[in-house]
Amino acid sequence: MILPGATLGMLGGGQLGRLFTRAAHELGYRVLVLDPDPHSPAGRIADGHLEAPYDDDAALQELGRQCAVVTTEFENVPAATLERLAAWCLVRPHAAAVRTTQNRIREKRFIRSLGLATAPFAVIELAADLAAAARARAVRFPALLKRAELGYDGKGQLAVGTADGLAAAFRELGEVPCVLEEKVDLACELSVVVARTADGAMLPFPVTDNAHRGGILHRSVAPAPVAPALAEAARQAAERCAEALDFVGVMAVEFFVDDAGRLLVNEIAPRTHNSGHWTLDACVTSQFEQQVRMVCGLPFGSNAQHSAAVMINLLGDLWQDGEPRWPDLLADADTKLHLYGKRTARPGRKMGHFTCVGPESGPLLARAEALFDRLRP
Ligand SMILES: Nc1ncnc2c1ncn2[C@@H]1O[C@H](COP(=O)(O)OP(=O)(O)O)[C@@H](O)[C@H]1O
Ligand SMILES: [Mg+2]
Repeated sequence: MILPGATLGMLGGGQLGRLFTRAAHELGYRVLVLDPDPHSPAGRIADGHLEAPYDDDAALQELGRQCAVVTTEFENVPAATLERLAAWCLVRPHAAAVRTTQNRIREKRFIRSLGLATAPFAVIELAADLAAAARARAVRFPALLKRAELGYDGKGQLAVGTADGLAAAFRELGEVPCVLEEKVDLACELSVVVARTADGAMLPFPVTDNAHRGGILHRSVAPAPVAPALAEAARQAAERCAEALDFVGVMAVEFFVDDAGRLLVNEIAPRTHNSGHWTLDACVTSQFEQQVRMVCGLPFGSNAQHSAAVMINLLGDLWQDGEPRWPDLLADADTKLHLYGKRTARPGRKMGHFTCVGPESGPLLARAEALFDRLRP
């Protein structure tokens, strides 16, 4: 067990790293962040901040020298970085788990190999694959063309209405390896955040229902108002993924539910997840404390949910005409505001979130959306 007082390393200094740092501080750990951005949200509150690229060998050595364990908040940290670090310190999750999930082609093949369903997809690595994919008709249109690597928050993907639009979309994405994925008629989207110990014990948080706008998470409701059997299937699928990845830490699995009620795995995040932010205010243990516990080899904290929760993301768009109007939100005694300390608000950038808590999620939904509407300046 890595006990309080030790230094924990975090690759990535975004809001997930910042919320991890807060949880680690509560438990008496020190945190050293590696992130090239001098103003990274986590770097600003951590005990140390190495401002260097993720492949900077001197910075990695320093991280390895100071830290008892290193983890990540960002799936796009090169897996090679985790491999390199493993020479000097404990790395959780291990590089292979991150390698599988940071490339959509490998990720989807992995999911299918477990016997879990995904949306129909085709791999497009070269322009020559486009005609073959259109001919094979394995993927019907409309579809989405997604870069295999380095996409997030809907970035790096384009809607393609017909086979005729495919070549232009591939060019626009830079002719890099992609997956072409059928557009699913969504009944809803779900996610499961699951913690796993080095011994293989697993503890999932309650299943969450997610609504996206423009490819970015807008709102999460927990517990998800879905049939218990569907929630159980999602939980089992998430545990299946965590086990097969031999994952140590906290990870998330995103699901689509299509209009026939079928559960499809969308993607896996080898880290805490935006759809688990509500655990900060409605669970005995937040996903971030659980991540600290897992990487340090501590036992699970309770995953019990003491309140229903609705979380809404605050994107930079909200700042376009000035500072949001906070007073109504702050006047609501059962609403918790979290801002990440980012200096500039750009459209689509996650600046913060708020969570409304209460005995039941039904009435919370309308309240949360009304509070959100009143924020716009
Ligand atoms: N095949 C699809 N069918 C329907 N909606 C999709 C599909 N792919 C993506 N989306 C929508 O876009 C969101 C973001 O896509 P996702 O593949 O999860 O990328 P990211 O890595 O940016 O989160 C999804 O949560 C969903 O709302
Ligand atoms: Mg996603």
